[in-house]
Amino acid sequence: MGAIDSTDLAGTHEVVSIDGRTFTCRIPLDLGLLAGDLAVIDSQGRTRMLGQVLDLELDGRLVICRGRLLADVGDDGTLGALKPRPFGGGALQRAPKELVEAFDRWAKADLVVGTVRVDDGSVPATLRADGFNRHTFVCGQSGSGKTYALGVVLERVLAYTDLKMVIIDPNADYVRLGEVRPEATGDAADRMRRVPVEVLRSGSAADEPGARPLTVNFRELSRKNRAALLRVDPMADREEYSALRRILTAGDLKMEDAQEYFALLSANDDPVSLAIAQRLENLGLLDLSVWSRGRLSCVSQFHEAERAVVMDVSGFSDPRERSIAALSLLDDLWANRESREPVLIVIDEAHNLCTAEPADALEEAVTDRLVQIAAEGRKYGLWLLLSTQRPSKIHPNVLSQCDNLMMMRMNSPGDVAELGAVFGFAPPSLLAAAPTFGLGETLLAGRFSPLARIAKMGERLTYQGGADVDVPRSAD
Ligand SMILES: Nc1ncnc2c1ncn2[C@@H]1O[C@H](COP(=O)(O)OP(=O)(O)O)[C@@H](O)[C@H]1O
Ligand SMILES: [Mg+2]
Repeated sequence: MGAIDSTDLAGTHEVVSIDGRTFTCRIPLDLGLLAGDLAVIDSQGRTRMLGQVLDLELDGRLVICRGRLLADVGDDGTLGALKPRPFGGGALQRAPKELVEAFDRWAKADLVVGTVRVDDGSVPATLRADGFNRHTFVCGQSGSGKTYALGVVLERVLAYTDLKMVIIDPNADYVRLGEVRPEATGDAADRMRRVPVEVLRSGSAADEPGARPLTVNFRELSRKNRAALLRVDPMADREEYSALRRILTAGDLKMEDAQEYFALLSANDDPVSLAIAQRLENLGLLDLSVWSRGRLSCVSQFHEAERAVVMDVSGFSDPRERSIAALSLLDDLWANRESREPVLIVIDEAHNLCTAEPADALEEAVTDRLVQIAAEGRKYGLWLLLSTQRPSKIHPNVLSQCDNLMMMRMNSPGDVAELGAVFGFAPPSLLAAAPTFGLGETLLAGRFSPLARIAKMGERLTYQGGADVDVPRSAD
């Protein structure tokens, strides 16, 4: 890119930096700068710098502008690491498009997920693929475009990385993640066409020809979780808990589902075994459609899969089935954590599974596992990507472990302020804009974004939803 002409820097805005890392100045409103914008700062005779405006405050007819310095800009426009030094009396202008793009390249952000408005048009909104080795939180009002936006992000991650992922999909929104739209062209679409996506279905969709059912092998649940499912408490139900332990460790039982387990327990004349059998029956666990009954379990299917597995839990009629399916996979990922095979664990509508207030032992088991993965999973390559419209329902210990934030429209400024306290890395001025976002607009902040900024999400390469139903047109 060309050098920046000093004559553009009309007048001086008294840009001052006393720490060499942040700056303050007074600018006229018509300079057109908004919070989040990048600006070129000319500190009179010294190297130019690139900075980001983070806060604007009206002061009479001027605007007090505060921001942080990002990089040094050479005479030829190349970017270099910031060499912090104090200065005073500089001038500032909006950074031209080329410089914003150069900054993204310099910050190694190359997953294009949308666009960012700049003075002279727009530039691609990019994310750093490397930044997904952290936990990510997506939030926004219902209908703000979370599921769509998450789809855009997942497509780019699938197209440009080798990261394996599992998507727990409560509304069958991702069951066509493997189908690239014929009209989608370009490198990302071509790459996405080569990505294998396995889809596991539940309910009646599982019975459709060619469908792979989403099932759980009863044996694959940990001992503790089987007890949780049976509501056997280790202290309150000491005898049953220890019997459960004993029976399950006796020999190499080939029980795949609760039915077989029930048969085994009922055949026993020991009263404790019978009591457990009654629990299975009375809790209605025998008839759940989730048990594998000889079919391949979701854990086995995930092990066999090369890249992405979508677990469509929308068809389960009993909410426990969703928890059982999630738990079996999360337990398996945790049990194999030493293999350090990176996995992105995506959960849409995450308040269902990672709830701050679990209603029973089963929900608690799922939440506990997610809290553990949030706290310790990172070093094993287990990274969470959670999406919700109800951030206050998510367990706080999970929320506080997220280093990446995607915030879409949030109507309540109170909710936004609460999240601001958790996500200290997101600039308050950008968070405050969340109630005004349109469909598909989002704040991107944290490690995966080269800058905290507001972007408009790009188009999906694949289809959202199980079956898009067209409005029937009249024939004439
Ligand atoms: N960036 C976008 N461009 C076009 N349509 C979008 C975009 N984002 C969302 N939509 C559409 O808006 C509707 C709501 O989006 P969705 O992602 O389901 O919202 P949420 O998950 O936040 O409830 C859907 O019909 C979706 O296809
Ligand atoms: Mg959604």
